[in-house]
Amino acid sequence: MILQFALTQDAPETCAAPCIVAGIFEDGTLSAAAARIDEKSGGAIARLHASGDVNGKLGSTHTLFALAGIAAPRVLLVGMGDVKKLDGARFARACADAARALKALPLDRAVSYLTELEVPGKDAAWKVRSAALASDAQAYKYAATFKPRDKSKRAELAAIDFAAPASAAGALAQATAIASGVRFARELGNLPPNICTPAYIAEQARKLAADHPGVTCEVLEEGDMRKLGMGALLGVAMGSANAPRLIALQWNGAGDAQPYAFVGKGVTFDSGGINIKPSPGMEEMKFDMCGAAGVLGAFLAAVQMKLKLNLVCVVPAVENMPSGSAQRPSDVVTTMSGTTVEILNTDAEGRLILCDALTFVQKFKPQVIVDAATLTGACVVALGKHASGLMTQDDALAGELLAAGEATLDRAWRLPLWDDYQSQLDTGYADVANIGGKYGGAITAGCFLSRFTEGFRWAHLDIAGSAWDEGRKGSATGRPVPLLAQWLLDRAG
Ligand code: BES
Ligand code: MN
Ligand code: ZN
Repeated sequence: MILQFALTQDAPETCAAPCIVAGIFEDGTLSAAAARIDEKSGGAIARLHASGDVNGKLGSTHTLFALAGIAAPRVLLVGMGDVKKLDGARFARACADAARALKALPLDRAVSYLTELEVPGKDAAWKVRSAALASDAQAYKYAATFKPRDKSKRAELAAIDFAAPASAAGALAQATAIASGVRFARELGNLPPNICTPAYIAEQARKLAADHPGVTCEVLEEGDMRKLGMGALLGVAMGSANAPRLIALQWNGAGDAQPYAFVGKGVTFDSGGINIKPSPGMEEMKFDMCGAAGVLGAFLAAVQMKLKLNLVCVVPAVENMPSGSAQRPSDVVTTMSGTTVEILNTDAEGRLILCDALTFVQKFKPQVIVDAATLTGACVVALGKHASGLMTQDDALAGELLAAGEATLDRAWRLPLWDDYQSQLDTGYADVANIGGKYGGAITAGCFLSRFTEGFRWAHLDIAGSAWDEGRKGSATGRPVPLLAQWLLDRAG
């Protein structure tokens, strides 16, 4: 369950919630709510700043208890940093800090006045949406594979109200839908690969369709894919005991309009196959289905927002394993499009399942195709973990997607898809090789995909860096759900 969100116009001093949240800057400048609380409490906040107990630094939070003149039993002061530097990203960071602090307190509900702060270039709708998404991201906790514990004795944060005009209600509803999509994507991403198999993802998609009127779900099995000639997808699946699925979800929100289409890489575990990966970090390859999780999450958000557009979401779901029946380096497979591919590295499997999915999705006559995939380590080398790599030959589409990423702080950065790179995919044994040379690996992967999207407006998001935080406690981020959901929201007008 995501946090419950609502709007409030109550004055801070009379608000009776278990905790109210207000901002303070480094130089002691108080947000309107903090100033009000300070005044009603006889200067309590100003004194704490003067003594240095509260410094207003970004990242800092302080809980004050039982302030005189304030109805709420707790006031959470959130450091907003330098007044002159406050921007969208810092605002979202402060909202996340606030939620983390609230989570540690024994309370189930809070009212945040941070949304009243002036953020240059951002309106109330943006602040409410961003505050809600940042808060819910903090509230999420993976619990699926722990021994069930006794229902916790203390109250847990379940709801936040934001101070904002009633006109921001639409933005709040959008945030709720997008937060649901992000949670869906994170949970699917975090589940271990012995649970989150291709069949499991298909089951989740079926459930999503059953729970939402207007959504239909089609799941292809191995035999269906063979009939369609999906030799590249089936080649990857060959080494695994977990049979592949091809999932197609459709949302009908606009009669017979041409649909928007998402395609997401769903490799439930990427061992590398016969070109097996090194052991250190291999466990992170359970996240190799985060493209699938991301497009499914964005699809869910679009459906919950009941967007007035048509949307198709195609997910090729497979496991990439080494075995006696696995494909080999030097195998040549025939794709659904007829193009033949020489497998020069079985670890470049994402593009192999995507190429057949990209051909398959064309039967829906989409007006635009966007794919999301944890496709290359090279993309992480190029951009680090903060930006998704965006590749497209369509400048207008690039602009739309970059803007949606900027607006949601789920940012992408464009890499070129110039023809100059294409010849790296030449081979003497098939129409195309599945790997390029030493350099520009994210781009040559994009070039490979471009061979299967000719004649369509298409963009590729490489989310290898952005889809999860690394390390033992690293968790799926739910990206690029916010970017994709915002992009659709902008298209729906
Ligand atoms: N799933 C990986 C990409 C990946 C690697 C994502 C590390 C996140 C972190 C993908 O299937 C892969 O193995 N790509 C290879 C391609 C290479 C063989 C051309 C890579 O990036 O090394
Ligand atoms: Mn791989
Ligand atoms: Zn992979």
